[in-house]
Amino acid sequence: MKFLSRRLVMPEDLNYAKTLFGGRALEWIDEEAAIYVICQLGTKYIVTKHIGAISFENAATEGDVVEFGLTTKAVGRTSITVSCLLRNKFTGNTICSVDEMVFVKVNPETRLPEPHGKTLDDLAEETKESLRKLNIGV
Ligand SMILES: CC(C)(COP(=O)(O)OP(=O)(O)OC[C@H]1O[C@@H](n2cnc3c(N)ncnc32)[C@H](O)[C@@H]1OP(=O)(O)O)[C@@H](O)C(=O)NCCC(=O)NCCS
Repeated sequence: MKFLSRRLVMPEDLNYAKTLFGGRALEWIDEEAAIYVICQLGTKYIVTKHIGAISFENAATEGDVVEFGLTTKAVGRTSITVSCLLRNKFTGNTICSVDEMVFVKVNPETRLPEPHGKTLDDLAEETKESLRKLNIGV
């Protein structure tokens, strides 16, 4: 799982118990996963089809830096399945995990599913190349 993105928990992200609002966490996760999938498939014409089990493990509070981990679980003909973990950057505690999120590539005009032409091996290779370009660890 790669952790490539972070956010700061701000006052407007809190619920009345002064912890990160679950709806906000899910909004962030959906966006982060969509960005990840757009980069993996190389197209912005994707839609969220299915979100599997969601588990809220620990609260986050104002001022916490949180980070998003994404991994590709499966690659189909028109779909891709990813999982996402939201955790506290400093404690490492999991805030929320989503076991599977299915995105489908659609035709921009018809909005019907269309093949993305990728395999799990293609994506593993492309991810390795992108990470190399980021100079992580240098
Ligand atoms: C996405 C959409 C075009 C798919 O239509 P569909 O009739 O389900 O299409 P298909 O049956 O051909 O399935 C497409 C892919 O999704 C997968 N899929 C369909 N239903 C699924 C489900 N419930 N769970 C997991 N995967 C599913 C299929 O296995 C297929 O994958 P594959 O081609 O890799 O094998 C249509 O459901 C839709 O427009 N949904 C609304 C999307 C949306 O508005 N999302 C929120 C905003 S982004």
